[in-house]
Amino acid sequence: VNLNEKAQLEGISLLEKLFHHLLMNTEEGHEALEYLLDRGFNESQLNQYHIGWALPGWETASKLLEKKGFDLSLMEEAGLLIKRDDGSYFDRFRNRIMFPIEDAKGRTVGFSGRIIKPEKNEPKYLNSPESPLFQKNTLLFNFHRARGPIRKEKYAVLFEGFADVIAASETVSNAVATMGTSLTKQHIQQIKRLTDTVVICYDGDNAGTEAAFKASRELASSGITVKVARLPNGMDPDDYIQKFGSGQFKSEIIQHASSLMAFKMWYLRTGKNLQTEDGRLSYINAVLPEISSLSSAVEKELYLKQLSDDTGVSFSSLEEQLKTYLPVQEDIQVRNEPIAPPPKKTSILK
Ligand code: GTP
Ligand code: MN
Ligand code: MN
Ligand code: MN
Ligand code: MN
Repeated sequence: VNLNEKAQLEGISLLEKLFHHLLMNTEEGHEALEYLLDRGFNESQLNQYHIGWALPGWETASKLLEKKGFDLSLMEEAGLLIKRDDGSYFDRFRNRIMFPIEDAKGRTVGFSGRIIKPEKNEPKYLNSPESPLFQKNTLLFNFHRARGPIRKEKYAVLFEGFADVIAASETVSNAVATMGTSLTKQHIQQIKRLTDTVVICYDGDNAGTEAAFKASRELASSGITVKVARLPNGMDPDDYIQKFGSGQFKSEIIQHASSLMAFKMWYLRTGKNLQTEDGRLSYINAVLPEISSLSSAVEKELYLKQLSDDTGVSFSSLEEQLKTYLPVQEDIQVRNEPIAPPPKKTSILK
């Protein structure tokens, strides 16, 4: 084991314990604790996820790490401290609710800190910076806890925010979230080792819908069966759970996830007025290539029927039109060299 990494993990773990203690047992952490309980996290979730509180002072963590004999430049690399011009160090995380971020082995490798009342000039969430230990392109929040449940349930749930993972954890234990970045190949490969089905449940706003559409393409092109769980307008999973509870969230939202094609049709329909001819045509032109790329004849018929119902255009016309689309080929190798010009015609008489 790399000794520097070992010291960094120990430093992170020491702060995790400090933050958690400050939240659960001290007057200084009281406002943060009230906030978390108010928004629906219970004490067992706060303990399970080791949620904590970082004091407003500038040197709480740096003084403790120094006193315990840690090499502060290593703690800086681990993202816990920031170096001043005079060579001294101050705390990166101050006045924030601290969410430990664990890697696939369950080791805490960093934090995301939330301000209680976000203001314009400061980010709502502050993450540990990228380091050898903390790499957002591979980290999936809750992966090490969700591994067993994902295998058992035979699908994974993908959320946009790690707060959603915690909020849903009482009924949905097979859930992970990215750390605010889009879904990468590395994220997908880790999920793919456990299951071939993913239910995407992103926030019910424009950003969430766009991100869900993008993630669904990445997952599908990696051979994963995608379903999409949609939330009432403007709500995220955590909002829904606060309002209706995590039991209803599982039975009404997760278990009612629609097929990828149904989600695509819904997505392509949004913003188009199907009362107008232009709206209907542009909807049909967007959907037909998607239908033509389906491999199952049954599914093709099913969604053509749906398209016919949505637009009032007859099934047979749509079917006729579908024939003009070549199936979409994924992963065609694009050649870089220019296409060779056709051979010069030489007369056979010559
Ligand atoms: P709450 O307001 O606490 O409920 O957060 P949320 O879980 O609803 O998060 P939101 O939908 O606003 O954002 C989704 C994810 O994007 C979060 O879990 C973070 O990982 C990331 N994110 C959101 N805001 C910020 C930010 O200000 N800075 C960074 N670095 N990431 C953010
Ligand atoms: Mn633990
Ligand atoms: Mn959002
Ligand atoms: Mn959200
Ligand atoms: Mn939220």
